[in-house]
Amino acid sequence: PSAEESESSEASEPDDAPAVEQTGAGAGPAAAHLPPAPLQAGDQSPEPGTQPPPAATPAPPAAAPALPRPPAKPAVFVPVNRSPEMQEERLKLPILSEEQVIMEAVAEHPIVIVCGETGSGKTTQVPQFLYEAGYSSDSSIIGITEPRRVAAIAMSQRVAKEMNLSQRVVSYQIRYEGNVTEDTRIKFMTDGVLLKEIQKDFLLLRYKVVIIDEAHERSVYTDILIGLLSRIVSLRAKRHLPLKLLIMSATLRVEDFTQNQRLFAQPPPVIKVESRQFPVTVHFNKRTPLEDYSGECFRKVCKIHRMLPAGGILVFLTGQAEVHALCRRLRKAFPPARARPQERQDQEDSVEETRKYKKSRARAKKARAEALPQINLDHYSVLPAGEGDEDREAEMDDEEGAVGSDLELDLGDDGADEGEQPDTSLPLHVLLLYSLLAPEKQAQVFKPPPEGTRLCVVATNVAETSLTIPGIKYVVDCGKVKKRYYDRVTGVSSFRVTWVSQASADQRAGRAGRTEPGHCYRLYSSAVFGDFEQFPPPEITRRPVEDLILQMKALNIEKVINFPFPTPPSVDALIAAEELLIALGALQAPQKTERVKQLQSSRLSRPITALGRTMAAFPVAPRYAKMLALSRQHGCLPFAITIVAAMTVRELFEELDRPAASEEELARLKGRRARVAQMKRTWAGQGASLKLGDLMVLLGAVGACEYAGCTPQFCEANGLRYKAILETRRLRGQLTTAVNAVCPEASLFMDPKMQPPTESQVTYLRQIVTAGLGDHLARRVQSEELLDAKWRNAYKTPLLDDPVFIHPSSVLFKELPEFVVYQEIVETTKMYMKGVCAVEMQWIPTLLPSYCQFDKPLEEPAPAYCAETGRVLCHRASTFYRVGWPLPAVQVD
Ligand code: CDP
Ligand code: MG
Repeated sequence: PSAEESESSEASEPDDAPAVEQTGAGAGPAAAHLPPAPLQAGDQSPEPGTQPPPAATPAPPAAAPALPRPPAKPAVFVPVNRSPEMQEERLKLPILSEEQVIMEAVAEHPIVIVCGETGSGKTTQVPQFLYEAGYSSDSSIIGITEPRRVAAIAMSQRVAKEMNLSQRVVSYQIRYEGNVTEDTRIKFMTDGVLLKEIQKDFLLLRYKVVIIDEAHERSVYTDILIGLLSRIVSLRAKRHLPLKLLIMSATLRVEDFTQNQRLFAQPPPVIKVESRQFPVTVHFNKRTPLEDYSGECFRKVCKIHRMLPAGGILVFLTGQAEVHALCRRLRKAFPPARARPQERQDQEDSVEETRKYKKSRARAKKARAEALPQINLDHYSVLPAGEGDEDREAEMDDEEGAVGSDLELDLGDDGADEGEQPDTSLPLHVLLLYSLLAPEKQAQVFKPPPEGTRLCVVATNVAETSLTIPGIKYVVDCGKVKKRYYDRVTGVSSFRVTWVSQASADQRAGRAGRTEPGHCYRLYSSAVFGDFEQFPPPEITRRPVEDLILQMKALNIEKVINFPFPTPPSVDALIAAEELLIALGALQAPQKTERVKQLQSSRLSRPITALGRTMAAFPVAPRYAKMLALSRQHGCLPFAITIVAAMTVRELFEELDRPAASEEELARLKGRRARVAQMKRTWAGQGASLKLGDLMVLLGAVGACEYAGCTPQFCEANGLRYKAILETRRLRGQLTTAVNAVCPEASLFMDPKMQPPTESQVTYLRQIVTAGLGDHLARRVQSEELLDAKWRNAYKTPLLDDPVFIHPSSVLFKELPEFVVYQEIVETTKMYMKGVCAVEMQWIPTLLPSYCQFDKPLEEPAPAYCAETGRVLCHRASTFYRVGWPLPAVQVD
């Protein structure tokens, strides 16, 4: 079973078959074959020898306007001044021969689906077609959403280059940054960015076309956008301001979009781009499952490189750490010929980045007339440098004597003779690719490798469909993918490495056949492949949805249950989300007087509150948004913003618990772990500050890093991820702007270096965190309650029956406070709480009344945090938490 079998059946359709294929037997008017009225006759003549466009008589562009005014399709042709080389390269792309078909479909229909193999040119070419057809004339914007930031940046750069336009015109916007100007005509953005824009302008009047790219990935935001846009398109049509929606997918499985009456009353036309895929021979391993698939990848790459003809190699692994480890091994086994070691290059790049940042900061500082307040340096103390510092170069893995081992390799019949002298003189140009990698480094994979070397890219599944790497002939697929799994109700998440789906495996194999026939080496047997699920389930069915529900409520979509989701989330997940939002005060709680029957009918349709609207304005999860909304007191905002930013960016600290390949590495890892643990204790401080726990560590780490000039060296020495630190700073800036927008009186100014919080501020911060993470409250199991040994040092949470523990990396690991709130529970060998903060028992009834039972009903208004006094107004004494934990009575305020 090869990856191509299924595709070749598609490709075997006669050339003159209608390219617009109607899914769904019930053919509406949309099903009619498109009239042959080309939109334009430009420089788009397809490459000789490719499929000619359907016979067509040139017609004026505005020949068939669907609506009386203004014309449904733009009448102008906007010339693009491409370089001849670029034009030649474009003409090789399969999508070029479909330009007319696509543009006609867009002119005729409000919604069009374009399917085509990865690399066929959808992302880079379709925006250009639309631009040339005038869809961005009169200052409109052509918007394209990508589920991944990497793709939004890389694609905007590529399209600008192809069109010979500056990034002022072809721009991108991701959560933290962008280069959009008033001249922007083509805008690549992440799907979350467009969702935010819909909140500000529901009709998206700046756009004439919106393209939802990579729809097959079924990311949550993509799904929601498609649902929303289905409505926006009809609203715009009613106003005679037509909006075009294009949905682009790398697979042909689009039934969730086409056969979903609630989503699109009339199934939109599906245009299939014939791929010019070369055959890929798929080689299965005889044995599976392999424990050490990373080692197996190494051996396979060595063998391919030494034995097989020229052509790039692409290796699919599951995570960043694996990618780095394999790269090190490969670079050691095949040192670059003359170039500097890549590791050093990487480091120099980071230094350069820092230099640039310092320079821009110096400028900004100069611009500020006023001197900054005096800062207490003692608090963010830093260990003397050097101690425990490892030379990066020394971290290279020891090469095992496995190269050219006797492992059986199934290299296919066009492979070199096994007996041939291995050619080890050719250097291997090893690059890595994963989504958290800096964009400049990601861009390297698109450049041709140095003369006389073979390209080898070690990637996670970002290389599966988002990015097409040129010149790949060999794919090595470990068959695994790392995915985050959530328990739908409790929100407990775990990362699991699991088998990919058949669709993903075939996508990966397809990467080998872009430019010539290729080979895919699967490190698993065909029997195992047969057991893979066909397609991965859409993300929305796999994760909590409270953030989405809050965004939707802010858009005044009250009955979320009726929303046209391409695939709806489970009712359990919707109820859990709505309950959390009610507890946070973002949605109106049912009145006590409401009857049970009414309650049920109002379930999943609670309206948003003023607090909820404020929360929705912050681009972070609702629990964190609640913290921000509460922080305008006692000067807590800058600290809360920093804590929330660091929690949102996640994984501020490097993963040092990874298994070591050798004794030597193990010793190094141990040394680094000890140093990081020591730093964490320093940052957490003592007394009141220690009680803020891991969140104090985040605050201290960010602060210390900013004081140290935020260098990659500082991060490296202290186990911080440089990229996460930079993102935290950007998000702090963005949250500061958002706070100022919601509350101009706050007039916050983002100073990267801030003074540490005072002792009382730390206590307020703990209360703020408690109010936000209230549903993540846990209580230590008392000695008299110990059921058996597995409950030693364990905590009990309301939602889980099993014991949970404070993660060993937490500064509260040994402190064991009676009550804690946690950022998340991650399941590894046990259930571990991460991001832990100690809570005082007497706060619970006042800060978390919705989780408490009171001995007398609460009077109206419900207890609330008073922003002016910073005190909690509570009227009644309380006795019990939801699970029956005894709590102290609370005084009437
Ligand atoms: O979106 P789709 O997967 O259909 O294709 P695409 O991303 O538009 O890529 C079309 C072609 O452009 C591929 O052959 C890529 O290798 C090439 N490309 C490139 O050479 N450099 C880039 N930065 C981006 C794409
Ligand atoms: Mg694409």
